Amino acid sequence: MTVGVGVVGAGFISDAYLENLTAFPDLRVEAVADLDVERARAQAAKYGVPRSGSVADLLALPDVEIVVNLTVPAVHVEISLAAVEAGKHVWTEKPIGLDRQTVRKLLDRAREKGVRVAGAPDTLLGAGHQTAFRALEAGRIGEPVTALALFQTPGPEGWHPAPEFLFQAGGGPLLDIGPYYLTQLVRVFGPVRKVTGAGGRGRATRVIGSGPRAGTEFPVTVPTTVGALVEFARGGSAQVLFSFDSAVRRTGFVEVSGGLGTAVLPDPNRFDGSTVLHLAGGAGEEEVAAVGHGASRGTGVLELARAVRGGVPERASGELAFHVVDVMVAVEESMERGAGVEVDSRVEAGELLPVGWDPFSRTL
Ligand SMILES: NC(=O)c1ccc[n+]([C@@H]2O[C@H](COP(=O)([O-])OP(=O)(O)OC[C@H]3O[C@@H](n4cnc5c(N)ncnc54)[C@H](O)[C@@H]3O)[C@@H](O)[C@H]2O)c1
Repeated sequence: MTVGVGVVGAGFISDAYLENLTAFPDLRVEAVADLDVERARAQAAKYGVPRSGSVADLLALPDVEIVVNLTVPAVHVEISLAAVEAGKHVWTEKPIGLDRQTVRKLLDRAREKGVRVAGAPDTLLGAGHQTAFRALEAGRIGEPVTALALFQTPGPEGWHPAPEFLFQAGGGPLLDIGPYYLTQLVRVFGPVRKVTGAGGRGRATRVIGSGPRAGTEFPVTVPTTVGALVEFARGGSAQVLFSFDSAVRRTGFVEVSGGLGTAVLPDPNRFDGSTVLHLAGGAGEEEVAAVGHGASRGTGVLELARAVRGGVPERASGELAFHVVDVMVAVEESMERGAGVEVDSRVEAGELLPVGWDPFSRTL
């Protein structure tokens, strides 16, 4: 039987989700909700979703089995917990939450209630990354030893019409962008055991660059450049940089090196992209084209739905998202203390998707 889905949060990213979720034959989008019920109504109408209203209205619908939480990070745990209490499974946008305690409480409560919490990024379920991970698991570069990950831009206030949340507690490049890159590195190296961070804030205020409030100045209350040295429990390390302070755009840059070569991985904020292998010993360069499905945002919701029906673990698990929050909070603590911080949680990323996994076929 297909799985009923309810979308909470009808903002910027809801278009990408609604377009895809309404195209997956295994899912039925039953309702859209938002604090702004008019915005929810408009998005429901645009995508042919039968109902819209408040969060309470949506949680009361028995046909909604999975709540897709697309609200702003500051209320992610609150909305996800309300869904869990209503007996719903949850897919949440990143980050799953802003601190260890509330995310732990959410995951523990979900276990007690017999429901699941899974979360972004689902980009790593895309064909580009699945192909890259298969190449690494096949030993094409040997055992991964080190990695370099870079994301630097002038910041999202130029294009996002409501960017304040990206520059306040729960935002900044670490919490907004870090989940993509750090989850990708955990997938390659396994769990993190220690981080050492450094960074700062480029400007005290920013100016909205698009939409009806263009020209409005707002305060920046978090570091807008964060660098970290990341050490992994099974060995290996990575250097990462997340910055909204650079006039030079350099994004989606992730290189992993092992004894047999270096792999340039696809952008972790995208679903597609090829992998370039630079093979050691003068063996040359090889481009590995992505093999697999072409779906994008919402793929993780579908994977969760199929995992629920199949009684198997979902791949983009809440525990993986919790570990990444644990790592990011440890980076923040390290910046405050001026010293390295140990990371206690441990997680194993799930199995890769089968090569022929098809989001657009009806399987339920
Ligand atoms: N914008 C992007 O390109 C992008 C990409 C990937 C992921 N995300 C993630 O998606 C999430 C949403 O981002 P966005 O850019 O769509 O933000 P947005 O501000 O455009 O939209 C958020 C929506 O959530 C609603 N909302 C806020 N609090 C609520 C509450 N308590 N109950 C119900 N609705 C509530 C708001 O009214 C708004 O409509 C964030 O976690 C962000 O990190 C955004």
